[in-house]
Amino acid sequence: MGDAPPVCDYEGSDYRDRFWGGDCRVYEDCTERIALRRLLPPRGRRVAHLGAGFGRMTSELQGYDQVVVLDYSRTMLRDAQARLGRDGRYVYVAADIYHLPLADGSCDAAVMERVIHHIADVCAALRRIRAVLAPSAPFVLEYASKRHGEAVLRYLLRRQTWNPFDREPVSFGPLYFNFHPDYMTQCLRECGFETRRCLAVSYFRLNLLKRLLPLGVLVTLDRLMQPTGRIALYSPSVYTLNVAVGETPPAALDGPLFKCPQCGALLETAEDEVTCPNGDGRWACRDGLYDFKENLGPKKTRRRRRTQEQMRSLVQASANEATL
Ligand SMILES: C[S@@+](CC[C@H](N)C(=O)[O-])C[C@H]1O[C@@H](n2cnc3c(N)ncnc32)[C@H](O)[C@@H]1O
Ligand SMILES: [Zn+2]
Repeated sequence: MGDAPPVCDYEGSDYRDRFWGGDCRVYEDCTERIALRRLLPPRGRRVAHLGAGFGRMTSELQGYDQVVVLDYSRTMLRDAQARLGRDGRYVYVAADIYHLPLADGSCDAAVMERVIHHIADVCAALRRIRAVLAPSAPFVLEYASKRHGEAVLRYLLRRQTWNPFDREPVSFGPLYFNFHPDYMTQCLRECGFETRRCLAVSYFRLNLLKRLLPLGVLVTLDRLMQPTGRIALYSPSVYTLNVAVGETPPAALDGPLFKCPQCGALLETAEDEVTCPNGDGRWACRDGLYDFKENLGPKKTRRRRRTQEQMRSLVQASANEATL
């Protein structure tokens, strides 16, 4: 599949309990839900929740007929299944965003929060997401901003070397980036999205404030502050509403969901696997989880089996001849 950028692997991670366990991030969770509700149309046909993790925010997508819950980590997806259930409305998919196995134009909305900070090649990922969207489909993208109040203050006080006003992403370690709002808007534009709205989210995520003020007060203040993102973005988290524009595949909302991550052909679906008609491979569906992380190899056709049997009898025949 070519030289793909590395993926931040959450396989076996305790992210859910370590990061969201207890009540220390209830404020962030509440404010993100408010932002998502403000931006995403409440109803639709098929929404892709990309990098959905354990499905923390997936419950916000209940107005859609079908929800594709996609993540690179199988363990996260098993957690999501346990949380959301096995109702046929949810399609669980283990796959890499750089190689999305979803058919062009197959979704009329997409959501991706707290994921792009792990993406080394932002444009490669955004182009793949753009391709699966029907014309004019909304894409709600959250990103971690490098130009937030605390970073600006630290920089001005010379307590931080990197410049929050510089447009290039800042990296805090392997596969962990924060982005300048202008950089992200430009990437989105280059990849076929028009940014329509920006919400400034989580201004009050400081531990001291969380200790001093009741949760309800912080959430209300955040709710009031979010729309200021239209004029000034200095929050650590930014929620954006983007619309698919430009050259666009036709909507394929009623067609097959999966395409081959290698050749792009629509996959043939059998009971427990999907198969590339051009012989690129097969991918299993185990306990309700489509697994594109492991290619099971080309389909074994009957013809091929016959050929193997013929080979075996030929070998046997020549062995018999040799012993005569
Ligand atoms: C910080 S977690 C966020 C999970 C969820 N969006 C949330 O907010 O609770 C990042 C998630 O992105 C997923 N991820 C990172 N890179 C990915 C990629 N290239 N393709 C698919 N998923 C990816 C990880 O497996 C992980 O579940
Ligand atoms: Zn193929």
